[in-house]
Amino acid sequence: MWTLRRADELSGGMPLGQWLERIPVLASTDLAHQRCARCKASIETGSFDVDASLFVSDNDQPAGLVLVTTSAEVAHLELVAVRTDLQRQGLATTLVQGALSALRRKGMKVVHTGTVSSRELQAVGLLTSLAFVGEGLGSLRMRRSLRGDLPIAEAPAGYHLRSLRVGEEAAWVELRNLCFPEDGHWQLDHFRQELSEADCFALDRILVATRQDRLVGTTIAWEVAYAGNPDGRPQGLIHWVGVDPEDRGVGLGKALNTMALGQLAERGYAEAWLNTSRNRVAAVGLYESLGFEVYRELDRYKLTL
Ligand SMILES: CC(C)(COP(=O)(O)OP(=O)(O)OC[C@H]1O[C@@H](n2cnc3c(N)ncnc32)[C@H](O)[C@@H]1OP(=O)(O)O)[C@@H](O)C(=O)NCCC(=O)NCCS
Repeated sequence: MWTLRRADELSGGMPLGQWLERIPVLASTDLAHQRCARCKASIETGSFDVDASLFVSDNDQPAGLVLVTTSAEVAHLELVAVRTDLQRQGLATTLVQGALSALRRKGMKVVHTGTVSSRELQAVGLLTSLAFVGEGLGSLRMRRSLRGDLPIAEAPAGYHLRSLRVGEEAAWVELRNLCFPEDGHWQLDHFRQELSEADCFALDRILVATRQDRLVGTTIAWEVAYAGNPDGRPQGLIHWVGVDPEDRGVGLGKALNTMALGQLAERGYAEAWLNTSRNRVAAVGLYESLGFEVYRELDRYKLTL
């Protein structure tokens, strides 16, 4: 028998933090971890909205919750969670509808969610069934297998592909700054912090294209260990792909990344991953031409009350 209560109506004396722990939330992805951490913090500091956050128990045992924070006329749906054995019975819908009714009574105008991945099918289904609308954040994660045939592309005439050499770090940073003016200016220290101090660092992972001995393109055959990687092992990552604006459109991006995929396969990774955004049209086109497919896209959902 379900009972829906506000935090200040809960009996039994169990601290709310423990309540959250008793509802096993699937925290297997980076996003789910972040969401749970934010919820724990707002429970600990008492900064959640007491009227709109609801707790449901089943035979006096924690069964689910919806946690909402509010500021001015804007509400933020932080987390909806239902105990695994009670899912698919409409409990999450009941919780969110209860929260929405409370928010309307309080005169809230709009509810936002945090970042939701297109792979979170239950969350996407719940939100869209309640008329929330997804707002694309543009963030894409793509992947391709490294098993079987890999694409082949030669360096265009006049260009040479190789690994970065000792002493060329500053020139690489200059090229990175030229290709990513919108991503902040790197100094040589950033190279150390982001690349050479990493556990997987090896100079030959950094591939470069040269024209008359000048660095004009790069990609890195890196590795990544995302929470929830299929077999729990790091996978290959295509990282910092950039071509000097003067040398774009002649096939350098394709040749460099073909070489990087070959290196990742040789290093034994099963898959290559990368992160990019929808507005990087040339990059998305390049990755699709190399056989990458979208793994997940990020959205934020919104409901006007
Ligand atoms: C993305 C980038 C590396 C592409 O480099 P490039 O050397 O110009 O790419 P290539 O010439 O090898 O193009 C290979 C494929 O990419 C796609 N592509 C390249 N430029 C494109 C564009 N402007 N629009 C759409 N697709 C494009 C095409 O499929 C192309 O194959 P095709 O010419 O046979 O049609 C380059 O545009 C760049 O440095 N951009 C700024 C930095 C950046 O966004 N990096 C990616 C971060 S995730």
